[in-house]
Amino acid sequence: MGFPCLRYFVRTTSLTFFIFTVVLLVLLNLRWCLLRYCQHSLQRPLSRDTDSQKELLLDQNKTYHMTSEDFNTQQSRPQSVLDRSLEREMKRRREILDSTCKRLHFKRKAKHYTASFFDNVLVLDPYKLLFSFIPKVSSSSWKQVLGDLMVRANASKLFTTLDKYSTEERDMRLETYKKAVFVREPINRLLSAWMSKFRDDPKDQERWEKYFGQKIVKRYRKSPPQSSKWLNITFMEFAQFVTDYGPSCEIDTITNHFVPQNEICHPCHINYQFIGHFENLVVEGPYFLRWISADHLVSFPRFQPSAAGRSLKDELAVLPLRILDGLSKLYKRDYEMFGYSVEKTLDHAVSK
Ligand SMILES: *[C@@H]1O[C@H](CO)[C@@H](O)[C@H](O)[C@H]1NC(C)=O
Ligand SMILES: *[C@@H]1O[C@H](CO)[C@@H](O)[C@H](O)[C@H]1NC(C)=O
Ligand SMILES: *[C@@H]1O[C@H](CO)[C@@H](O)[C@H](O)[C@H]1NC(C)=O
Repeated sequence: MGFPCLRYFVRTTSLTFFIFTVVLLVLLNLRWCLLRYCQHSLQRPLSRDTDSQKELLLDQNKTYHMTSEDFNTQQSRPQSVLDRSLEREMKRRREILDSTCKRLHFKRKAKHYTASFFDNVLVLDPYKLLFSFIPKVSSSSWKQVLGDLMVRANASKLFTTLDKYSTEERDMRLETYKKAVFVREPINRLLSAWMSKFRDDPKDQERWEKYFGQKIVKRYRKSPPQSSKWLNITFMEFAQFVTDYGPSCEIDTITNHFVPQNEICHPCHINYQFIGHFENLVVEGPYFLRWISADHLVSFPRFQPSAAGRSLKDELAVLPLRILDGLSKLYKRDYEMFGYSVEKTLDHAVSK
């Protein structure tokens, strides 16, 4: 059927035009194939272990909702194999971050920043380590582990932050110390913040309702609040508030539970060699201790499965598209910089 058309085509147009069209089509096709290939290779699981012939970490399907069983399987693997795989994974995350920062035109120089820029960076001099502390990323485990490390080193003061040092002292540490940060899937982090601050702990609930509650109720509730003591802010209300107000809010000890993590740890300015993922903490926590050669001093606390991971599906299922869209916009850079995928989170949430 194509041939009569072709003959007609050749007859009725000049040969040059025909050749030009063919070349154009071939080029377009090539470009399409290339794009497809790139997308495909980007989506391929990247962390393959050639030694064990097994895919080790980052089965992305499991990353957001690992069970203790998954963790036990991972932990039972030979440590050297695990460490090599983790080392490659850190390198991969570093590369993702570098290319994102480059694309966003960040320059990796922290010298001209004000001191408060570094107020979440813990300094552990005995270990020549800087550790960026992000709320809702296993904060209590980290406080315990890092505190224990300082005690073991007979440090007189447990935690100092990098903003307390002079510019020279700060730069010396930024240049010569190991730098690490742990991050978390952004929407899970937000949900976890809501659960712990608006639902599960009456003391926090009281504080947060006082701080944000009235504002949220005034903005988003049609009927005036009942005379009850509690406002019981829902996740939907909180998510809506965060998407509306988040981009413009000042970072303080409350908002730092939900502002994008990159605004807290400044990964395009501080050259982190270790970018840990909360979801994989049970292997990456101990690996971190080996990485700073302190695994003989303390051990990482027992893994507690995240309750947020389990509730995510239910909570996201009721969010209107507008809010989901707002969340993915608000946390876009976190997703890009730290190698998470908002599509995966949302897919997981809507799939049954
Ligand atoms: C991940 O999930 C997708 C769809 O649910 C499935 O097709 C794929 O085989 C899974 N991958 C692994 C490694 O289990
Ligand atoms: C800490 O102090 C104890 C007791 O004084 C000592 O035995 C230990 O060697 C010290 N550790 C370090 C790392 O200095
Ligand atoms: C509201 O919050 C309080 C305090 O956490 C809790 O006791 C109460 O059950 C909640 N009410 C509803 C309707 O969830």
